[in-house]
Amino acid sequence: MKVKSYAKINLGLEVLRLRPDGYHDLRTLFQWVSLYDSIEFKPLSSSVLRLGGDDPSIPWDETNLVYRAARLIQNRAGGRAGAELFVEKRIPAGRGLGGGSSNAAMTLWGLNALWGVGLSKPELEDLGRTLGSDVPYFLTGGLCLGEERGDVLTPLPDLANLPVVLALPPFPVPTPLIYRNLDPASLTPADKDSKMTGFLRTRNPGGLTNTLEETVFRFYPQLLEIKSLFREQGAALSLVTGTGSAVYGLFEDRGRAERCLAVLKERGEAVLVETVTRAQGWDAIEIGVSPSGKAAGFGPAIRGFESSRPSGYKHAKRER
Ligand code: C5P
Repeated sequence: MKVKSYAKINLGLEVLRLRPDGYHDLRTLFQWVSLYDSIEFKPLSSSVLRLGGDDPSIPWDETNLVYRAARLIQNRAGGRAGAELFVEKRIPAGRGLGGGSSNAAMTLWGLNALWGVGLSKPELEDLGRTLGSDVPYFLTGGLCLGEERGDVLTPLPDLANLPVVLALPPFPVPTPLIYRNLDPASLTPADKDSKMTGFLRTRNPGGLTNTLEETVFRFYPQLLEIKSLFREQGAALSLVTGTGSAVYGLFEDRGRAERCLAVLKERGEAVLVETVTRAQGWDAIEIGVSPSGKAAGFGPAIRGFESSRPSGYKHAKRER
C-alpha cells in the first residue's frame, strides 16, 4: 500500500497569546496543496518496524516522526504487527509546509488501515497531537480552521482549485526560534475582529495575514523581498507559510502564476502547485488505486472520517 502525504500552506495565521504550556494559542487556515511525499507500507510477519527514505539528509531512525507515529500505532495494535515503511520525499523540511507532520499523520492513518487496528479518527488525532500541533490537520485535509495549538479543527467548505507558486529558499527556519522571539505587539487580541472572519464571509483571500511574518522577516529579511516580488507579479495573496522559509503566492489565474514562476526560477527554487480539496485529496490518497477500486474496508475508512471537534468559531460553517 502506497499513500500520498500532502503539504500544506497557511492561508492566514493569527497568534493570540502565549499559553501556560509554552505553546501559543492561534487561529489559522490550513490548506492542502498538490505537492506530496509518498509513503509505502509493507506488512512484516515479525513485530519489526523498518524505516527508510530517499533523502539521505534526513535521519530515518527512531527519532523520525514517521517512526514515532508507527510505534504509537504498533503499541495500540498490541505490539505484534510489524511493517517496512519507505518515504519518498518531495516536500522540503523546515519550510513551513508541514512535511514531517503530514508524514506522521499518514503513517498513523496508513498503519491503522494496514493492520486493521480500527482506531477512530478522534483517536488518531489524539495520537497525532502528541507528535506535533499540525499533525491532526493532515487527518482531515482540505481547507480547515485550526484553533488553540492549531490542533482543534473545523473543516470548512473548500475553495476552488487555485494555482499556488511556492518559493523554496535553500535554508530551513527553526520554528521555536520564531515563536520564542515573537514581538508581543504582533499578538492579535482574541476579541479583535479577525481577518479570517472577513475571509470566511467573503471568500476573498486578499485581506489574510500571517502575524508571524514580522518576526520571520526580522531574522530573514530576504523573505520579504520574495513576498514583494509576488505582489508585483499580481498574486491575490502572498504570505510566509507557518514560520517559513517557504513563501507562497496564491493566484486567480494560471497564466499569471506561470509568468511569476518563470521570474522566481531565475532567482532560486520555485514550483507551481495548486490547492487540493478534501474530497480530491482523499479520493487520490492511495497511489495506483482508482477511487472506485479501493481495497475493501479501506474506502469506508476514509469516508468514515467525520469532522473533528466542534469549534467556538461562530463564522466557520461546518461542512459535515
Ligand atoms: O507542535 P510542534 O512540535 O510542531 O511545535 C514546534 C514548536 O513551535 C514548539 O516547540 C513551539 O515553540 C512552537 N509552537 C507554538 N505554538 C503553537 C505551535 C507551535 O509556540 N501553537
